[in-house]
Amino acid sequence: MNAPVVAVDGPSGSGKGTVCRRVARRQSWHLLDSGALYRLVALSGQLAGLAADDIAGHVALGRSMRAEFRVTPAGDERIELDGRDVTRLARAEEIGQCASRVASWPEVRSALLERQRAFAVPPGLIADGRDMGTVVFTSAALKIFLTASPKERILRRYNQLKDKDSGVSLDAVSREIVERDLRDSTRGVAPLRPSSDAFVIDSTGMAVDAVVERVIELGRARALWR
Ligand code: DC
Repeated sequence: MNAPVVAVDGPSGSGKGTVCRRVARRQSWHLLDSGALYRLVALSGQLAGLAADDIAGHVALGRSMRAEFRVTPAGDERIELDGRDVTRLARAEEIGQCASRVASWPEVRSALLERQRAFAVPPGLIADGRDMGTVVFTSAALKIFLTASPKERILRRYNQLKDKDSGVSLDAVSREIVERDLRDSTRGVAPLRPSSDAFVIDSTGMAVDAVVERVIELGRARALWR
């Protein structure tokens, strides 16, 4: 591994994405949103007209898709798949569910392994996912498992989705989070769980800023930055 990595894992709605983005920006480190890669495999399968359970059979999708993550001059993130802007499509809850199904296939996980490791370039990488500390970056300089109570994660995700889609219901979000948690943490390969050497941060009742500060402090204690 040619650059230091901070591995951040945790369940849906734990705030990992926001925290990782902020830490990466503050330290001017690279960011890997590994969930987006699983979402892109799901999306490319759907765009090719495949049913969810057939997508995983097409491991070629994970190997051959051209995925680009860009930040516009205005600071907005853009996700491109084979040259097409799919930012909104990739973030849809339905694609998250499909990604969770596709991600339980070992062939898909191994197809994405080297692609994820290639993100570890100087000055360093903040890697956001489910198996960053346990599989992809086992020798990460710092491992964090970020969680929060199911109730709080459901509310956070609901508030996030409500801003984009006024038709979203708390019940539906609740069902989806419970279902995704169960699938992601009980699958046979790379299940969601804290690495034995990870710091567990329970962010229930914590503001995002406080979580960011905690991660910055832990990085400082490991001499990853000043
Ligand atoms: O973090 P997210 O919601 O964008 O991830 C979508 C799905 O992808 C998630 O439910 C499980 C899967 N995933 C995974 O299995 N391993 C990762 N490192 C990241 C995501």
